[in-house]
Amino acid sequence: MKNLDELKSEIEEAIHGAADLNALEDIRISELGKKGRVSGLMKSLGKMDPEERKTAGQQFNELKQAVAALIKTRKIDLENADLDASLAEEKIDITLPARPDTQGSIHPISQTMDEVVAIFGEMGFTVAEGPDIEEDWYNFTALNIPVDHPARQEHDTFYVNAEKDGQRMVLRTHTSPVQIRTMQSQKPPIRIIVPGRTYRCDHDATHSPMFHQVEGLVVDETTHMGHLKGCLIEFCRAFFRDDDLPVRFRPSYFPFTEPSAEVDIGCSFEDGSLKIGHGDDWLEILGSGMVNPAVLENCGIDSTKYQGFAFGMGIERIAMLKYGIPDLRTFYDSDLRWLRHYGFRSLDVPSMVGRASL
Ligand code: DAH
Repeated sequence: MKNLDELKSEIEEAIHGAADLNALEDIRISELGKKGRVSGLMKSLGKMDPEERKTAGQQFNELKQAVAALIKTRKIDLENADLDASLAEEKIDITLPARPDTQGSIHPISQTMDEVVAIFGEMGFTVAEGPDIEEDWYNFTALNIPVDHPARQEHDTFYVNAEKDGQRMVLRTHTSPVQIRTMQSQKPPIRIIVPGRTYRCDHDATHSPMFHQVEGLVVDETTHMGHLKGCLIEFCRAFFRDDDLPVRFRPSYFPFTEPSAEVDIGCSFEDGSLKIGHGDDWLEILGSGMVNPAVLENCGIDSTKYQGFAFGMGIERIAMLKYGIPDLRTFYDSDLRWLRHYGFRSLDVPSMVGRASL
């Protein structure tokens, strides 16, 4: 039957030309589906007389099976081609060099801040904060710093043009104004530390116009100098990880504390290099004292009932001492090689376990 042969080669050609699995499925439906051409032929058998039906039935069946077989083979070919294409696309080129390690590191200032906060945190201090742009009154006056104090002079302090309620604004020269803000907003007992940025007109190997400090303040009815000493000795030994570190309190003067003391730690200079610990020399690392009653009164705290101690230290300074960083300016150079050398992995945790609390 010529017609059937033509139909078969037409279908064969279409199957061969099917570009993808979807096109092939369309062909299957249009030939073998319920309303398909080959299925139509099968249906037409019902109208034939028995003799005709016998031969035609056999031929139609052969055609149906041949078409089904062709579709099946083409389907396998197309699936294999798909697989080959995706394998070629996803092939890993093992000759490519490895990607560089892009993990960042923690800046020594952040690391040191975290360590200081962790040590005082263990002793029961909480963290307080205040604004970098501060009112003259908080930065100086309330802290009992007289108008003629050198720190107020233009060449030390960055004055900001804006004024607030008639107050001159400054970039805070220390974290001490947060003492005042805290005493105004909280009732004793107070036990805070204040890590933050501070600003002064200064720039050399040991000074930067922006630097960091940590302030500490404790106010309670029975707070005394023994608490100040115990707390700061404990801090120095924990921070420098030396349980026998010599710590010395040297009389000093700050307008906001009375009496005042500077705190030194033991050290030695061997072959010109600094070693912290037992030695024949001392290094100053922080300022401290009993809160001046005038400061308590400026904040509305009854100085006949409450006493306090306070301290303040430079973060850069203690970071330089602990991690042997020679030049303060390098903290802010944003030099990646420097950061790779002095930076910390995010999983480096200071070991504070087992420290006593106040
Ligand atoms: N504010 C002082 C400074 O910047 C540091 C300081 C000294 C803070 C003694 C204190 C303190 O709280 O009691 O140099």
